[in-house]
Amino acid sequence: MAHSESNQNDCMRSAIISAPGYESVDEHWFLPQAWGRQAHAVTEGGRGSAWFIESECGSFVLRYYRRGGLAARLSDRRYLFTGFNNTRSFAEFRLTDELYQRGLPVPKPVSALACRFGSLTYEAAILVERIPGARSLPTCSRVDDEVLWHHIGKRIGAFHQEGLDHVDLNCDNILITDDRIYLIDFDRCKLRVNSDVGAGWKHNNLKRLYRSICKRLPFFSEEKRTRVWNELIAGYHSL
Ligand SMILES: Nc1ncnc2c1ncn2[C@@H]1O[C@H](COP(=O)(O)OP(=O)(O)O)[C@@H](O)[C@H]1O
Ligand SMILES: [Mg+2]
Repeated sequence: MAHSESNQNDCMRSAIISAPGYESVDEHWFLPQAWGRQAHAVTEGGRGSAWFIESECGSFVLRYYRRGGLAARLSDRRYLFTGFNNTRSFAEFRLTDELYQRGLPVPKPVSALACRFGSLTYEAAILVERIPGARSLPTCSRVDDEVLWHHIGKRIGAFHQEGLDHVDLNCDNILITDDRIYLIDFDRCKLRVNSDVGAGWKHNNLKRLYRSICKRLPFFSEEKRTRVWNELIAGYHSL
């Protein structure tokens, strides 16, 4: 993995961690304005801090870490610095890489950046490969296909069996292509070592997704929502 992390120390102002093959990534890669017309803001799903990058080196998604809620009034991008290895971007990079190495359907991580501001705070961003032809669940043309929901349940079950606690499991973090279902956006997520112990976290992930379905798919009648949810749960338990 990454080279720039090997000589990092916490006196540095910024650090980058990169996947093999992406050793040449530098801070410019994380500046949407540096990409000019090769960068397009992501308009669907998410919190409005992501860009699609179309470059000679490949298609990527660049995302800045931002807070919502009350903390955002102080600063919506800065976090307390306690070492580069503890930054949101480095943690998400490592977790996504681990899932990718295990063969789970997640985007391939490219690189993560953390920049210090003063001695206390940092800003961070991550780059991942774009999944070709992927649509988020709410914008996918098959969203009302109950067979798809069965497969989504099965997929979530498979991630749970691997121990992934996806703390932001919502409709926009489920991507659909013609032949695969992906999970994305692993900020603050955890890999539980023994995935069966204290499985309340699995229930919490599913509860979070149910709330998101109510919010993001308002065109579903209550009856339709119940049907797709029952399919999802059946798929979840079918492994
Ligand atoms: N690897 C990817 N391939 C294709 N589309 C993606 C990918 N990553 C993110 N997106 C799109 O960008 C949106 C926002 O990305 P996400 O990583 O969820 O950031 P956030 O929710 O923090 O804004 C997603 O809902 C999806 O539509
Ligand atoms: Mg998201």
